[in-house]
Amino acid sequence: MARLIGKTAAVTGSSSGNGRAIALALAAEGANVVCSDIRKNALDGGYEDNLGQDTDDIIRANGGKAEYLDADAGKRDDVQAVVDRAVQAFGRLDIMVNNAGIFTGLHTIVDETEEEFDKTMLVNCKSVWLGCKSAITQMRRQDVVDGTRGRIVNIASIGGLVGLAMEPAYCTAKGAVVNLTRQLAVDFSPERININAVCPGFLHTAMVRPFIDDPELNEVLHSKTPWPDLGYAEDVAKATTFLASADASWASGSMLTIDGGYTAP
Ligand SMILES: NC(=O)c1ccc[n+]([C@@H]2O[C@H](COP(=O)([O-])OP(=O)(O)OC[C@H]3O[C@@H](n4cnc5c(N)ncnc54)[C@H](O)[C@@H]3O)[C@@H](O)[C@H]2O)c1
Repeated sequence: MARLIGKTAAVTGSSSGNGRAIALALAAEGANVVCSDIRKNALDGGYEDNLGQDTDDIIRANGGKAEYLDADAGKRDDVQAVVDRAVQAFGRLDIMVNNAGIFTGLHTIVDETEEEFDKTMLVNCKSVWLGCKSAITQMRRQDVVDGTRGRIVNIASIGGLVGLAMEPAYCTAKGAVVNLTRQLAVDFSPERININAVCPGFLHTAMVRPFIDDPELNEVLHSKTPWPDLGYAEDVAKATTFLASADASWASGSMLTIDGGYTAP
């Protein structure tokens, strides 16, 4: 049975990759979805077989309810507008998925520029802080339904749990997302707001295509991932849907690794 009938979700960075798969998966479980991104159409480098169709259009074509908002996850007013749209259109915000993220390329701290660091911290870290701030403010006003005032899922990374070679700013930002998730769970679990994170390993999305297409880097990724295959956005979407549902009622402050065993050794 569909697990999210009548619920309303907002997803940042929903046009491509993980955000797109998450928005589609939540909608498939019955949720109304507010999609948001800085571009409505999917990135060219993605692995989706329907790249020409926008996420919100697919949801509606499948009989679901979706809105799309141009919103930069690093801008406070834009993030607030996403939360406001959920409430205006559907009356409530049950699920907030803070997914938007960027990767500026492989380099050590010696070659990483301040601009790359600042941009990475803005889009991969402050965006999550902003998304949690707006969502929690709204969720605290809402009644408890099915045991919760609302559920937040932050898309972190294995880069928030272990050091990844040549990804200093990315690991800094994701490490902060991991511990922000834990911190918020301490403050808001008592108010019945669930706050968890998914920590994906290396997946087939536009972000990682340059690694996957490079035979040497591809070999490195495979050698560090015990599972024979790299992951897919749908793997992250399934884990996110679990954390967004009543199946994860008592999960709060959890880091759910979806990484083919990358962080197991
Ligand atoms: N792909 C992986 O292997 C992997 C692994 C671990 C974590 N992640 C995380 O998953 C999330 C999604 O990554 P992906 O692989 O799907 O990336 P992607 O590049 O394929 O898609 C990212 C989407 O976010 C949007 N976006 C970029 N900046 C934005 C902003 N400022 N505001 C709103 N939207 C913005 C892009 O337009 C794009 O639609 C990121 O947080 C990323 O760090 C990805």
